[in-house]
Amino acid sequence: MTVQEFNPEQLAKEYMHKSPEAILQMALGNFDNIAISFSGAEDVVLIDMAVKIDPNIHVFSLDTGRLHSETYRFIEQVREHYNIKIDVLSPDSAALEKFVREKGLYSFYKDGHKECCGIRKVMPLRNKLSALDAWITGQRKDQSPTRADVPMVEKDGAFSTAEHRLIKFNPLSNWTSAQVWQYIRGNDVPYNELHNKGFISIGCEPCTRPVLPNQHEREGRWWWEDATMKECGLHANNLNKVKNQ
Ligand code: ADX
Ligand code: SF4
Repeated sequence: MTVQEFNPEQLAKEYMHKSPEAILQMALGNFDNIAISFSGAEDVVLIDMAVKIDPNIHVFSLDTGRLHSETYRFIEQVREHYNIKIDVLSPDSAALEKFVREKGLYSFYKDGHKECCGIRKVMPLRNKLSALDAWITGQRKDQSPTRADVPMVEKDGAFSTAEHRLIKFNPLSNWTSAQVWQYIRGNDVPYNELHNKGFISIGCEPCTRPVLPNQHEREGRWWWEDATMKECGLHANNLNKVKNQ
């Protein structure tokens, strides 16, 4: 199958009940120009599975400049543990300096996270994805109401263009948080030390806090905003799906 012949809708049905490892095999078997988007939280599970298929797997992480020091240490730990290269991507310095000069360092508490995430995450991601044919994320259906329909594989509705079709794989889509943690413990997978301090879903330091027992994991992210809006733009196509329901 060539990259052009790849049919994400058909494969999403075919692989609907398959394991994350089977999806990764299929993804890496079909695409050479593919990378894992690694956020320095528990989605290192994808890296653990992928290096067993391809030890030279391409991994990138968006360094917003606002991550916890624990997360930076963790990214380094993963790099050494798996002996892989990780592209740590920075925001455009001119756009960021202009934004901070005009609005300061904490504008998201007043007018929402969209602008800051746009500069610190979405622009560098768009840049990265423009040079890839496919990417792999750790999104799961149980993470958020916005993710309830995340398929195993899809055409990326946010970053594809008329000239460039981008495929997005979400191999952990059907897994629960409990399954992720069973895998982490069962396979001695390294994890961010913030998880020992009550953090579940981890993003940037000013926009992440630990949750209480039985609180949903996303309640610790952008807690001042509505649950149906909690996408930072990386997975903006999920919001379109919610709106169209
Ligand atoms: S977010 O959009 O709300 O920040 P979340 O933290 O749930 O995303 O992570 C979902 C997936 O998005 C991760 O498994 C990872 O693939 C990708 N992702 C999130 N943040 C980053 C980041 N800083 N760098 C690279 N990938 C990321
Ligand atoms: Fe900015 Fe917060 Fe988004 Fe990080 S999560 S890029 S600090 S708004």
